[in-house]
Amino acid sequence: MLKRKNSLKILDKTSKAKIIIKKLKKENKNIPIILVPTMGALHQGHLSLIKKAEKYNGIIIVSIFVNPIQFNDKNDLKNYPNTLRADIEKLKELGVDYLFLPTVKDIFNSSFQTTVSVNELQKFLCGKHRPGHFNGVSTIVLKLFNIINPDIAVFGRKDFQQLAIIKRMVIDLNLDIKILEGEIIREESGLALSSRNKLLTKKNYEIAQNIYQGLMFIRSEFKKGKKSSVQLKRLLVTFYQSKGIRNIEYINIVDRNSLIDSKTVRTGNIIAVAIKLGKIRLIDNLKF
Ligand code: PAF
Repeated sequence: MLKRKNSLKILDKTSKAKIIIKKLKKENKNIPIILVPTMGALHQGHLSLIKKAEKYNGIIIVSIFVNPIQFNDKNDLKNYPNTLRADIEKLKELGVDYLFLPTVKDIFNSSFQTTVSVNELQKFLCGKHRPGHFNGVSTIVLKLFNIINPDIAVFGRKDFQQLAIIKRMVIDLNLDIKILEGEIIREESGLALSSRNKLLTKKNYEIAQNIYQGLMFIRSEFKKGKKSSVQLKRLLVTFYQSKGIRNIEYINIVDRNSLIDSKTVRTGNIIAVAIKLGKIRLIDNLKF
């Protein structure tokens, strides 16, 4: 029995983490190491990833690291919520085995200069609007993989481009890691859980409830027979505008693996949106 409540151990240094994980691997040969990478401000979405990990009866390591190199906007980084104490309580409650909690200095030495770039997949969707973001993500994820050496890692489908990029990186760089995908967890209204929801004003929080409603509306139009991507996207713009959503960064309907735009929408395609409400940027997606 591996899990005990409140047995969470904190690994606050890369060197320490590497030593402990080597030992764990030696002592538990047939037990998988499962990594759930996060940037903290844990909500039910993260907790569902941990619950998914639990099904694999392994040693669960959650990382909390607000990765500066994936923020293309300095204010976004500055304002990123930090709820470390509450996060630790949640991890204890769930019986997580280890929390990897490194500092920025520990992860990025002063001469750091190497980046991992998944060249094509990062050109679409969020990548177009957040220069450098996905290089930052793939670099930190590969570093976490190298430090923790997991057999399994879990990522959420809300960041579906991130997920596609990480899956590609795992294949391209021959990493022996199984990637598990966690469902999008939503509030009752349908709003996708995000650490950034906390930063919305009351009014924008109300407006944000329509992001998912719009996606559902478009999917129902698709099911009724509308297959033109241009037409469906136009309908969504009109829907969002009628709900007070004016700043639409993108609406795209894409192939879920290549992320290339579909002109004629097919079952299995993904509609992905990025919306700005005030200064807060929210993303969501839905499968047709
Ligand atoms: O999805 C996130 O929280 C981050 O992008 C990740 C994967 C932890 C990398 O910093």
